[in-house]
Amino acid sequence: MKDKLLKLKDKIIKAVAEASDLSELEAVEVTSLGRKSEFSQAMKELGGLSEGERREIGRLANEIKQEIDTAVDQRRLELQQAKFASLADQDRIDVTVPGIEPPKGHLHLTTQAIDDIVGIFSRLGFTRVKHPEVEWDWFTFESLNMPPDHPARDEWETFFVNAPTHRKLGKMVLTPHTTSGSARELKKGRLPIRMINISKTYRRQIDVSHTPMFHQFEGLLVDRGVTVTHLKGVLDHFAREFFGPDRRTRLRPFHFRFTEPSFEVDISCGICSGTGHLESGSKCRLCKEGWLELGGAGMLHPNVLKAGGVDPDEYSALAFGWGVERTMMMCSGIMVDDIRVLYRSDFRFLNQF
Ligand code: DAH
Repeated sequence: MKDKLLKLKDKIIKAVAEASDLSELEAVEVTSLGRKSEFSQAMKELGGLSEGERREIGRLANEIKQEIDTAVDQRRLELQQAKFASLADQDRIDVTVPGIEPPKGHLHLTTQAIDDIVGIFSRLGFTRVKHPEVEWDWFTFESLNMPPDHPARDEWETFFVNAPTHRKLGKMVLTPHTTSGSARELKKGRLPIRMINISKTYRRQIDVSHTPMFHQFEGLLVDRGVTVTHLKGVLDHFAREFFGPDRRTRLRPFHFRFTEPSFEVDISCGICSGTGHLESGSKCRLCKEGWLELGGAGMLHPNVLKAGGVDPDEYSALAFGWGVERTMMMCSGIMVDDIRVLYRSDFRFLNQF
């Protein structure tokens, strides 16, 4: 009996030591010490022994049971520690690994150009202003020296809004140019003025070089003694800052109803440096003659100053205005053969900028 118990003990302790995880250990415990176990069977046989033997074997059995319990506890501890150790290995989070960045958007390239333009003029003291994009005829045309029915109005391909006509200000339109902000600015009566008005403009035209909605920026400087020289200086500053340090502007006489004198502003071509010829001697394909047309400019007509409540004998004003998209496209690097692609929300195009 004694031998039998000692052998059983060895067998159980071996099984305990060999249990490779916690559930296996639990199974060993049940099968070796549980009610139906060999050990329990052996205990039942104690009843058939003499009293002396029973006491001796009983004590031995108790010792063995304690020994097994201790072995089980120890093995459990070992297995638990091993489990935590491997958990720490497998489930470890390295908080220093860079995260997964969600895709980032960016400003539309027209907005980027607007920001650049505002930055350039603000360094000359021009403040950005905004005026209504749904505007009265009076601000759009009449205050700009274009009386009702004047043929010059036709050039602006205007969208008229189906709304009641104002007795003095006339019909409502979608602003076809940002010059309409000038009379509003003059009427504020705060002189001198250095404003840059950038907003959406609308015209009834759509083709490879026109979208019915586009943007214009309009500069207006009103002060005593403002001359064409100042205008040229402001435009040259813009050309250098926006297009590059070696670009120049040229003023070509033109006609606008709201300026006198009026000019078309050209910028020297970035490809042929204003010569019209490439180094190889062939004609520049971009400009053909060295200059690219930017937009209009001039000295504000006295009638416009008067309409805005400013005395033309005391004040003079320079003005210029043209399209943001066109100007941006002319900035080297961005060449598209259809301007409409700007507003088609096609990421293959937009993501490049
Ligand atoms: N508003 C004119 C247009 O849309 C452009 C323009 C010409 C603006 C001459 C000016 C200017 O300020 O002086 O065609």
